[in-house]
Amino acid sequence: MFQKLLVLLAVILIYCSKQNSAVIAAIGFSILGYFVTNWLIPRVGPSFIKIGLFGKDLSKPGKPVLPETIGAVSATVYLFVMLSYIPFIFYKYMIVSTTGGGQRGPSVEDSSMSASIFPHNRLSEYLSSILCLESTILIGIADDLFDLRWRHKFFLPVIGSLPLLLIYYVDFGVTYVLIPGFIKKYFNLTATIVDLGGLYYVYMAAMGIFCPNSINILAGVNGLEVGQSIVISILELLNDILYLTWGSPDGIAAHRFSAVLIIPFLGVSLALWKWNRWPAKVFVGDTYCYFAGMVFAVVGILGHFSKTMLMLFIPQILNFIYSCPQLFNIVPCPRHRLPRFEAKDGLMYPSRANLVDNPPKLWFITILKALAFFHLIELEYDPKDKSKVISCSNMTLINLTLVWFGPMREDALCNRILQLQFMVGLAALFGRHAIGALLFDHDNLWT
Ligand code: UD1
Ligand code: MG
Repeated sequence: MFQKLLVLLAVILIYCSKQNSAVIAAIGFSILGYFVTNWLIPRVGPSFIKIGLFGKDLSKPGKPVLPETIGAVSATVYLFVMLSYIPFIFYKYMIVSTTGGGQRGPSVEDSSMSASIFPHNRLSEYLSSILCLESTILIGIADDLFDLRWRHKFFLPVIGSLPLLLIYYVDFGVTYVLIPGFIKKYFNLTATIVDLGGLYYVYMAAMGIFCPNSINILAGVNGLEVGQSIVISILELLNDILYLTWGSPDGIAAHRFSAVLIIPFLGVSLALWKWNRWPAKVFVGDTYCYFAGMVFAVVGILGHFSKTMLMLFIPQILNFIYSCPQLFNIVPCPRHRLPRFEAKDGLMYPSRANLVDNPPKLWFITILKALAFFHLIELEYDPKDKSKVISCSNMTLINLTLVWFGPMREDALCNRILQLQFMVGLAALFGRHAIGALLFDHDNLWT
């Protein structure tokens, strides 16, 4: 009954959106996206297993087999939602604001209209986002099907983000960054901005690589891939609400665009989370990690707040930096770095990298010992020779959480990481608007 009421609410919201804003339609479509994804997942799971898309849940007794790549269901529903959504958000412009036959009518200039509906000039950005996400989902599915090598799959998302960069160049093209007030004072600078030119595009392309991959390597615990994406979405929506409430017209347009992309994403992700959280009944696959990361990269780049978006990725950035010795093979990197499940007590323990067969260089052993001194890693010494390190905990935030807080059950571990992520994200948003205003002499939320 409650579900039917929600679907009815979704339909009413979508219908009302013709007169109101795109955000209301997004909420309606998000609810529909949730129900469709939730309905599809249990029905398509067995077919995924039949065609070989399955994985073993390594942290359960007996390692049960679960369907993998189920994130493709969420991603597909999201694409359908975003496509069905086009007539609703651009309806007023297309039907009311043109004289038909491809001719623009005079009412296009009516600024009150573009303020209350989705601005027409965002259509190209909207379509390029869909194009980018489609190619990213294809890359993700290829990875899940063929288990691509890291050195190949790492750079592939940049191809998906090309349409975005092009649209950014045509529509916005801003490549400068503000110089913080204290640097201006210290160096006695008169300039308030520095133009990064082409480097700014390299930075945005790097974001297209980083966001998808960083979600994929903070993984291996039931619910964590989707959970972290949900946390980032909620934080991002909080930021959008700030701008939609108090922002300037430009800020409102950018954050309306962001909300329109994030709200339906939240709907399909919540449905996936229901099936992927502990004890998982499905795995999301790399498809979801790439898709989710790219949604955030798209929103950050085309909403023109990529630096704020990166602040919501602080845990993923720290996990990447911490992982670097293993990613660049300074320390051996096993195929799976997820925590070790102990069937005796049902708890998760830090998993380890074997340093005997393939020992790191001596200088790095010294660094490892220094990290162990600060409780940033756990080392195991040879019982016969107490100075010889034989293994270290795998360098992920997941294992580090276990080093700090001790062994715990998989669901508690996931929740602990998500709580930490939420707190860090809230602090980052606060820092962005409070400390940012001090550093740059103003905050674009208020000006
Ligand atoms: C990334 C990580 C790897 C981690 C893996 C877990 C790096 C460089 N790679 O690899 O260390 O082990 O993600 O997703 O950091 N699985 C579970 N429980 C879960 C989720 C996954 O047991 O909650 C296992 C399943 O066997 C599943 C497999 O992980 O089939 C999926 O691994 P995959 O996504 O292919 O690994 P990568 O993304 O390559
Ligand atoms: Mg993965």
